[in-house]
Amino acid sequence: MATTAQFEHEMLREIYEQPEALRRTIELYLAADRLKPDFAARLAAWSSPEGEILIAASGSSRHSGLYAEILLEDLCGLAVDVEYASEYSCRGGSGDQRHPSVLVLSQSGETSDTLASLEEARRRGQKTLAITNAVASTMAHEADVSMPLAAGVERAVPATKSFTCQLAALYLLALYEGAQLGRIEVAELAAHVARLHAIAAALEAQLDGWHEQTARLAQNYRDAATFLYLGRGIHYAIAREGALKLKEASYVHAEGYPSGELKHGPNALVSERVPLVVLATVDHALDASVMRYEKTLQLLRDLKAQGARVIALANSGDAEVGALSSDCIRVEAASEYLLPLLEVVPLQLFAYFMALRHGVDVDRPRNLSKAVVEK
Ligand code: F6R
Repeated sequence: MATTAQFEHEMLREIYEQPEALRRTIELYLAADRLKPDFAARLAAWSSPEGEILIAASGSSRHSGLYAEILLEDLCGLAVDVEYASEYSCRGGSGDQRHPSVLVLSQSGETSDTLASLEEARRRGQKTLAITNAVASTMAHEADVSMPLAAGVERAVPATKSFTCQLAALYLLALYEGAQLGRIEVAELAAHVARLHAIAAALEAQLDGWHEQTARLAQNYRDAATFLYLGRGIHYAIAREGALKLKEASYVHAEGYPSGELKHGPNALVSERVPLVVLATVDHALDASVMRYEKTLQLLRDLKAQGARVIALANSGDAEVGALSSDCIRVEAASEYLLPLLEVVPLQLFAYFMALRHGVDVDRPRNLSKAVVEK
């Protein structure tokens, strides 16, 4: 399918660069399938086993924060709050006593609101960690601990490879915290690392199929006025990210909701011109994932009865979701906490092809810039 010379846009090239970007990022922190000791020593200076973690970020980076919230809570038993950086930095009040550790997530490392959150945290004496894709950025310099990504320069305004690399870095962070807190045993750690390593190859194997299918879907759904993206648990972060990608790349309105919220209002919007994108993957090895999946199946049954148009994301071979949806994008099986790294990629591709259908300069959408820096 697409070869390097065939990329019409930076966004498509960067989507295709994700397997390599992930490998480079993972290699920064792992040696012989173990967390590098210097990485562990740096993180020890940031984390505090007693306190809660505050994550401040904007846009797509905040969606990575929502992913990290579930990951750190489920795998490590930590308590995490995720804030919009633009809100956290303007909060005022007497200070934040609850969160000894603050994490800022930013691809550019320069976003004004996120930088202001970092500076506010430092002023309050909180320990700060910055995950950025720019090792020489202001946030990387100012934070107590810097955890750079190796996504490589991202030119298209819609974030793609920096986003999946953020997820991989957050997964490594969770492995460190889980091991430190005795929540993840040594043998389990090795299994987690092996699963993380496998994601790059899984992406590589599926990219061309997703490319072809999402190009067709964009043609079929080009007249939709609004899309509702639904996800549960850790997949909610990806529903939000998929909707944001569609909005900014193609100017088609979209919103991401927790699946269970649909019937509390947004369902009134659903019509021929308002289809849904439903994340319906499952990790059969995890009871909580199976429980969420069964609820999602019921929702898909209800949506079918209602006559809704649904694009589902489901495990390869899942005939039930296939029968309940209008179109089904297949994702190879992966663990619950790594499925998001796969799910987001066809949603990036869908946004890309919708942008082409709508004649948008996808690398430079109107009114947006790569880093939102106040003059
Ligand atoms: C969306 C996107 C933006 C950024 C946001 C924060 O594709 O790129 O939502 O994520 O402006 O930017 P960073 O991550 O540089 O702080």
